[in-house]
This record gives sequence, structure tokens and C-alpha cells, in this order.
Amino acid sequence: MTENPDTSGTTAEKTAGEGRVAVVSGGSRGLGRVLVERLLADGWHVATFSRSASDFVTEAMAAHPGSFHWEAVDLGEPETARTFVRNVHRVFGRLDLLVNNAGIVREELLFTMPPKAIESLITANLVAPIMLTQACARVMTRQGGGAIVNISSINAVRGYRGVSVYAAAKAGLDGFTRSLARELGGHGIRVNSVVPGYFDSAMTAEMPAASRARIERRTPLGRLAAADDVADAVLYLSSPRAEFVTGQSMVIDGGLTC
Ligand SMILES: NC(=O)c1ccc[n+]([C@@H]2O[C@H](COP(=O)([O-])OP(=O)(O)OC[C@H]3O[C@@H](n4cnc5c(N)ncnc54)[C@H](OP(=O)(O)O)[C@@H]3O)[C@@H](O)[C@H]2O)c1
Repeated sequence: MTENPDTSGTTAEKTAGEGRVAVVSGGSRGLGRVLVERLLADGWHVATFSRSASDFVTEAMAAHPGSFHWEAVDLGEPETARTFVRNVHRVFGRLDLLVNNAGIVREELLFTMPPKAIESLITANLVAPIMLTQACARVMTRQGGGAIVNISSINAVRGYRGVSVYAAAKAGLDGFTRSLARELGGHGIRVNSVVPGYFDSAMTAEMPAASRARIERRTPLGRLAAADDVADAVLYLSSPRAEFVTGQSMVIDGGLTC
């Protein structure tokens, strides 16, 4: 394992983030916010987007004027992701890590889901991350390396009623991860996905107490994840410790799907 930043083969593979640039989609809250905070604390420059700015975004812009960049971008318009990447490159001059974190869920049986809702779920959770990845990977290829981490879901590996379209998009992201790892390995770019079980965030805030208790009961480790549990896996896959890991999907669910 290469721990010396000067001998590491790829740019995202350095011991600390000092000077390196991360793009995290959906960094205004939830897991994305935790990733932004931890990357900034590790010395990375961090660029993120969401549809609207949260208090966290406003505070981070004031606290880290030279190392934090935020823009309003809607994954419903995937081509705007390309403009975002161009802007990030103009602001920070390089790009070492992409975390495809932003996602939306809509629980509804397929029978009643309007076609437009199906299309927008697939666009936001699959098409837009693919287009964001394409734009970032081009920059990383020119630089000689980088790392990409896609945030999937256990819905991609287990069936649950009411989330079939979301599950299709997340399973697509895992397939994308494996094939892209083969395309980009020769360019020094590693591509992995993290497959979280349920964790506390706005996405799970509305979960009925009975559902939460059932998940806790069925989870060998007896609780929902914290966003930090998932962030630990993302940061590992982004680090030199994972320099020989690519094309993998790492399940972080306390054993729920084992
Ligand atoms: N929470 C869970 O239990 C769980 C479990 C498995 C997998 N996941 C996955 O983990 C990732 C993070 O989830 P989370 O729970 O942290 O989500 P969250 O708290 O709902 O945050 C989602 C982030 O993405 C942004 N976002 C959502 N839709 C967007 C759009 N159309 N365009 C641009 N930005 C958008 C949100 O900001 P705006 O709303 O302002 O746009 C926010 O910053 C997602 O990919 C999710 O599918 C979550």
C-alpha cells in the first residue's frame, strides 16, 4: 500500500486531502453534508451542489471562502451538471474525487406511479450521476487519476415494496460502477459504490416508528446507521488505504441484508 503522497499513482490517493479537490453532489444536508464537513476538516477543497442552499451551505461559504464552493444545480436537468464541473475546474484547477451522493426517493406502488414521476426518479438517481461522472472522469483522466464513489442503496440488492423505480436506478448505479471501473482503471481512476442501509436523514425522517422498530429488530447490529457510518466507508474508498480496490460495492447496513 502506498502511503507516501509523492509516490501514489493517482491524485485522489494521497494520505490527507491537502490541496486536493472533491465534488460531492447533494452536500447541503444528510450524508452529503457530513461528507463535506469531514473532507473540509481533512484539508480538501470541496465543491457541492443542491437545488437550494441550506443554513449549513451559507455557513460553510462564510467559514471556508477559499476551499468551499456551492452552486444551485437540479439533477432533473443533468446537462447543468457539466456546467457545474466546468465551474469547479475553473475555481479550483483540478478534480480528484467525485461522490455521487444526491438522490431522491418516492415511495409508491408502480401501478399508480405517473410516467413523469418514473422518469424524474431515473433521471435524478441514474442519468444525472452518469453525466456528472462523465464530466468529472474527463478531468481526472487528463490529470492521470482520481476516485469515484457512487452512493447506492440496499434497495439495489433486496426487494422492498413501493420503491421499485428507485431500486432500479440504484441497481443501475452499481452496474455502472463495475463496468466503469474496467474502463477507467487504466487511467488511474478507481470507481466503487457504497450501499447503505437505512440511516438517519431527511429521507428517513418521516419513517413511522413501527417501521423503524422493525428495521432495528431485523438488523443484527440493532440500530439504524448514522450518516458517519456511511461516510467512513466513502472516505475509506477515497483514501490510499483503498488504492487496490475498484469496481466494488460495499454494503453498510449493520447486517440487515446478510
Ligand atoms: N437515508 C437513507 O436511509 C438512505 C439509505 C440508502 C441510500 N441512501 C442514499 O444516500 C444518499 C444521501 O441520502 P440522504 O438521506 O443523505 O438524503 P437527503 O438528506 O434527502 O439529502 C439529499 C441531498 O441531495 C440534494 N438533492 C436532492 N434532490 C436533488 C436534485 N434533484 N438536484 C440536486 N440536488 C438534489 C438535496 O438538496 P436539495 O433538496 O436542496 O436539492 C440534499 O443536499 C442518496 O443517494 C440516497 O438515495 C439513503
